Amino acid sequence: MDRRDLVRSLRWVGSRDGWRAVRAAWRRHRIDARDLPGGGAQRARVPGTACGAEALPGGGVVWFAQSSLRVRVAVGGAVFCGWDGAAPEPSYALAGECPAADTRAVLEPDKDGWRVVSERITVVVFRNGAVEFRTPGGVLLRRELPPRWWDGPGRASCWVQRARTPADAVVFGLGGRSSGPGLPAGSYRLWNTDPCAAFGPGDDPLYITMPVQFVVADGGCHLVFHDNTWDGRVSLRDGEEGAGSGHDQLGGCEVRFEGGPLRYWVMAGSPGRVLGTWTALTGRPALPPRWALGYQHARWGFGSAEEVRRVAAGYRERGMPVSALHLDIDHLDGHRIFTVDRDAFPELPVLAAELREHGTRLVSIVDPAVKAEPGLAVYDSGTAADAFVRDARGQVVRGVVWPGETVFPDFTEPRVRRWWGGLYAERLQQGFAGFWHDMNEPTSFTAFARYGEATLPRSARHSLEGRGGDHREAHNVYGLAMARAGYEALRELLPGQRPFFFSRSGWAGMQRYGGTWSGDVATGWPGLRASLALVLGLGLCGVPYSGPDVGGFHAVPSPELFVRWWQLAAYLPFFRSHSAIDGGRREPWEFGPRAEECVRAALAERVRLLPYLYTLAHLAHRTGAPYVRPLWWYEPDDRRLRSGGDAFLLGKALLVAPVLEQGATARAVRLPRGRWYDAATEAAHHGGGQVLLDAPLDRTPVLVRAGAVLPVAAEGGLLLEVWAPAPGQTGSGVVITDEGDGWEPPRVERFTSRWEHGAVVVEREGADEVGYPVRVRGLRPG
Ligand code: NOJ
Repeated sequence: MDRRDLVRSLRWVGSRDGWRAVRAAWRRHRIDARDLPGGGAQRARVPGTACGAEALPGGGVVWFAQSSLRVRVAVGGAVFCGWDGAAPEPSYALAGECPAADTRAVLEPDKDGWRVVSERITVVVFRNGAVEFRTPGGVLLRRELPPRWWDGPGRASCWVQRARTPADAVVFGLGGRSSGPGLPAGSYRLWNTDPCAAFGPGDDPLYITMPVQFVVADGGCHLVFHDNTWDGRVSLRDGEEGAGSGHDQLGGCEVRFEGGPLRYWVMAGSPGRVLGTWTALTGRPALPPRWALGYQHARWGFGSAEEVRRVAAGYRERGMPVSALHLDIDHLDGHRIFTVDRDAFPELPVLAAELREHGTRLVSIVDPAVKAEPGLAVYDSGTAADAFVRDARGQVVRGVVWPGETVFPDFTEPRVRRWWGGLYAERLQQGFAGFWHDMNEPTSFTAFARYGEATLPRSARHSLEGRGGDHREAHNVYGLAMARAGYEALRELLPGQRPFFFSRSGWAGMQRYGGTWSGDVATGWPGLRASLALVLGLGLCGVPYSGPDVGGFHAVPSPELFVRWWQLAAYLPFFRSHSAIDGGRREPWEFGPRAEECVRAALAERVRLLPYLYTLAHLAHRTGAPYVRPLWWYEPDDRRLRSGGDAFLLGKALLVAPVLEQGATARAVRLPRGRWYDAATEAAHHGGGQVLLDAPLDRTPVLVRAGAVLPVAAEGGLLLEVWAPAPGQTGSGVVITDEGDGWEPPRVERFTSRWEHGAVVVEREGADEVGYPVRVRGLRPG
């Protein structure tokens, strides 16, 4: 804690809410000391030697002296491994039922023990409990050493599993990590956490942690997911290439959990295939309504309907379209959720309708914590429904959040999800069209920011779908279960519309319900860099819709930083500016005429690219492929592409090289193979090496893949921008369109491009006519 933080904390502790938080922290400590099982004797256990095996559908089970391992290949190619009798279900990650076993895969004896051969992975189980995963060609993906457990009477067994991966492997994922996208060696905690201060690169953990590792190596990619919601830690160690032989050369990873089952899934193949398999298992990303791809403006501290009108008018007068304005907690009556401060926002439905006429929707913040105040409708109905988390002695657990003393719905109980879901009807009546779930790690303030756990007592009881358990198991899925409650309610309340949700916290599978955003990213150049790391990393965990607070959360950015942040976000799925109550304004015109001009150009480009972004949203929904992809997406075996994380592919066609450094007017980027065109100058670049691109303040370097057929908005509708294929090559593109909302199947059109008699020709598959106006680009000589 630096001095500023300390002074702030001390001042806060002296306030009424601060004093409440001190009391809540003390209560939390006392409850846990009383109700959590003590530290009795523990016994270490390893599997021991294998003593037999049995073939079962999709694989089989290997019996060891002190444990067992079930290997089961599922239809679709994901391999499940469960130690100690752990089964794939119940699981918060899986979407619906566990996929059926692929009966083509069988457990058979092998010289080292047993093996299960499947289409994409061969699993070898050694007699000592080590397990190897290999590609069909025999290349090692990961080698797991025999796990180790610590069991004790009346307490959860902790366990640790060490694995070796090839020395060149880079690990991505683990949820939203600010130090990525490629995660450096170090220890990463699996416990969703509000950092309680603006964060930058390296601050860890943050709001979304997931035991999902996306591992990329020369020999192939794989994803490993430890399906365990408990507190845990993943420690990554770099491989030492050439430093010896055998396992010394391998990189390492250690996964450690404080309880819960040792079960995990492994899937392998190209990055697209891996994410396809992963999102088939945990759910395809929700398709946002089209308006959610437009620019959105949020502010903590609009303060009044008049201010909202003023900001909306400001954008309108300047010809800058805003698809949504987000109201933060200051529009609520004393920060109480599902209420409105009627003095400041006297007629919210009227305001919503007025904005809507100009194409702008209202989005509402929704926090989970309910003010503990008899007479408050939500508190009373929640109490009547027995909705709030209790401690082991049956007392409702109290914490402190924005409204003061609060209680917390137990979203892991289906009955509570239904009760909570009904509350969104009030938000719809107020005219809101989308929902912003916040503080759902869940956060309950602690006395000193950064010290003490800013959440519920670990011993607090949860339903866990009727199985019963405590907060140690429920914590990480609290935000996920809240998202489910909201999403399922909206499906019923507005059956004809696609729900729009984004949530600060979540877990594996959260993409089924919506997206997320950066949370309180620090204003500054490091925060800008962390913003991109988060989006890329989350995309590789199956959560493609996210973006940062443009400008950073807590302070006023310089005009240059604001412009660069805006330019980056204009190419990210969720494009929203936001700031803290004391973080200054984010209206572009507040940063001077030059900044406004640059921002206007980036916004115009965003609007022009909307048909492409919408196609990417559909593709993410159909296949799990993120809109924002790392440069190595199509060439995972190129180590040089793996090491960079400051540029990205937007779909297949675009490469965006944002400026992340102060004062830079040019930047270098390593290109994937093939020919690329500078989108602004049409100059051609040859891929496979590094190029230096001009990056004056008024533009972000963007390159287009040769042959790309790119749908863009043009006056009167959609236009196909066709970028000349490289000589002798062909190209392609897809366009997916629909009504912008609702559930009607979309129209999918595929196009190809090629050279014919010295001209670029574009054709629609299965049709005589292209059906859209075409503009050919990239014909500049050179
Ligand atoms: C924390 C969120 O991260 C931030 O975006 C929001 O403005 C504040 N809570 C207030 O609601």
